[in-house]
Amino acid sequence: MINRRRRIYEGKAKVLYEGPEPGTLVQHFKDDATAFNRKKQDTIDGKGVLNNRISEYIFTRLGEIGVPTHFIRRMNMREQLIREVEIVPLEVVVRNVAAGSLSKRLGIDEGTPLPRSIIEFYFKSDDLEDPMVSEEHITAFGWASPQEIDDIMALSIRINDFLSGLFMGVGIRLVDFKLEFGRLWENDMVRIILADEISPDSCRLWDIATNDRLDKDRFRRDMGGLVEAYQDVARRLGILAENDRTGGKGPVLVKN
Ligand code: TMP
Ligand code: ASP
Repeated sequence: MINRRRRIYEGKAKVLYEGPEPGTLVQHFKDDATAFNRKKQDTIDGKGVLNNRISEYIFTRLGEIGVPTHFIRRMNMREQLIREVEIVPLEVVVRNVAAGSLSKRLGIDEGTPLPRSIIEFYFKSDDLEDPMVSEEHITAFGWASPQEIDDIMALSIRINDFLSGLFMGVGIRLVDFKLEFGRLWENDMVRIILADEISPDSCRLWDIATNDRLDKDRFRRDMGGLVEAYQDVARRLGILAENDRTGGKGPVLVKN
């Protein structure tokens, strides 16, 4: 069925197809995993299905609190219908706890809480390996306007506050995550909405009790058990009941 659709774009972990109506696309989640700009790659059975469900859940919850997103509805195990947007060529990283490239760049031990949440911008370019950029670069080169940067930062902070609480409720620390935004035209107006995905591929999620990694660092760092970790996240969010692939009973709250 998917083969009859026109392929619009193929990324590392997703494919975008033409949607059933103008202004829509189908976002297909693959099982492919890459890290370090494709220097490391593998296929992990079941990852795409889990990310589709987890991202659906998160985008739906964000929509409910008034965050505008590209998500329309999930179509099947691997695909969701989304609004077509013009992607702002930035990866927006929000950090609450030092980890990954921030720890490496600034010599701060992983796990050190940051004095406040920090937003970073990276220019989306595989050729350049997504270099970090400042607001000066973004406005000077016209990747986004000052107003768009304001909107992106305000949305990022709201998303961080909401998701930090959501994950904390199920015993998970939201260490950091990456967002992408797009421009949506409606009549003569253009506005910034949340696009792409939010899943354990694009977040660092640590078990609060054990500090276990429940995210793509399991792949980046050859720790194994990636699908089991993603299943654990889905189960805690209440979207994957034990022995049930269709379940959905809402978050499973834990006492910390
Ligand atoms: P970093 O510490 O490697 O800069 O990653 C920060 C966060 O952004 C982490 O949650 C993983 C996510 N991320 C992506 O989703 N895609 C990327 O290409 C990179 C480098 C990071
Ligand atoms: N997704 C990026 C890549 O494939 C990097 C990462 O997530 O580590 O290179």
